[in-house]
Amino acid sequence: MKAGGCAAKLSPRILDQALAGFPRLNHPDVLVGFDTRDDAGVFRLSAELALVQTVDFFTPIVDDPYTFGAIAAANALSDVYAMGGKPLSSLSVLCFPSSGDISILREILRGGADKMIEAGCVVLGGHSVADDEIKFGFAVTGTVHPDQVLTNAGARAGDFLVLTKSIGTGVIGSALKRGIASEEHVAGSIQSMLTLNRPADGAHGCTDVTGFGLIGHAREMALASDVTLEIDASKVPLLPGAIDYSKAGAYSGGLKNNREFASSCVHFNRTLPEEIEALLYDPQTSGGLLISAPQPPAGSVVIGRVTERQMKPIHIL
Ligand code: CO
Ligand code: CO
Ligand code: CO
Repeated sequence: MKAGGCAAKLSPRILDQALAGFPRLNHPDVLVGFDTRDDAGVFRLSAELALVQTVDFFTPIVDDPYTFGAIAAANALSDVYAMGGKPLSSLSVLCFPSSGDISILREILRGGADKMIEAGCVVLGGHSVADDEIKFGFAVTGTVHPDQVLTNAGARAGDFLVLTKSIGTGVIGSALKRGIASEEHVAGSIQSMLTLNRPADGAHGCTDVTGFGLIGHAREMALASDVTLEIDASKVPLLPGAIDYSKAGAYSGGLKNNREFASSCVHFNRTLPEEIEALLYDPQTSGGLLISAPQPPAGSVVIGRVTERQMKPIHIL
């Protein structure tokens, strides 16, 4: 097992270089394309209906194949929710060794299928490739009203910033690989990754927090919306154990890449303990939604505010 889950994503820098000046068909019904690095593409079918399309798959992040399949499904569905959409149908994407154990394959698929049922999303089919390294996920199609698409660009000064899941799946996953994670902390992280997101009603902007970490995704929102996101580090919810493993230096390559890429966009109003600062860059698998909304929903976790653009796109209080 190499880098697992969303920590296995290509570095944002490599993607930026590869996609610069990319040829495209300019079509009037493309409401959200790849150039804004939103969570999913959105294509208008009519004045009332648009398609939301996304694909996400990755290498195993947990030992149990059923759980891996279910997390992969929750993670793939998340990008549809992040755009304000409702998932309708999906196609599985699978890489599996030709000599692999079929009972393991069956469990991965069953975990994915159960999570899709929970989301009310039909699995229509899929595609598989013989590969020595297992990979699994889904391409998901959803729908959204064209006027209700939530993008990175919708955050407005005065909004509240809400985060719907705790941070730390990356460091806990790294700690698990190093054999230093407690069973209880791993179980908490798995429970979080298994939890389905849902569309953020009444929001101005939204993204899910995945491979680029909280700051990486907040940065995309701040730049696309031309605002500053003020995040109060003491309000950012952390999974039990995350601080311990951050202190122990259980950092993935993804965390280091994220930090190297995004730290120039961040202003720290105060010096944070290193273990807290690092967690702000921790790549999340099946992470929560970062929502910019005029009114935080009752009971939601508010981690900061949106302001007019200040010195940097991200200010950490
Ligand atoms: Co996403
Ligand atoms: Co994604
Ligand atoms: Co995003």
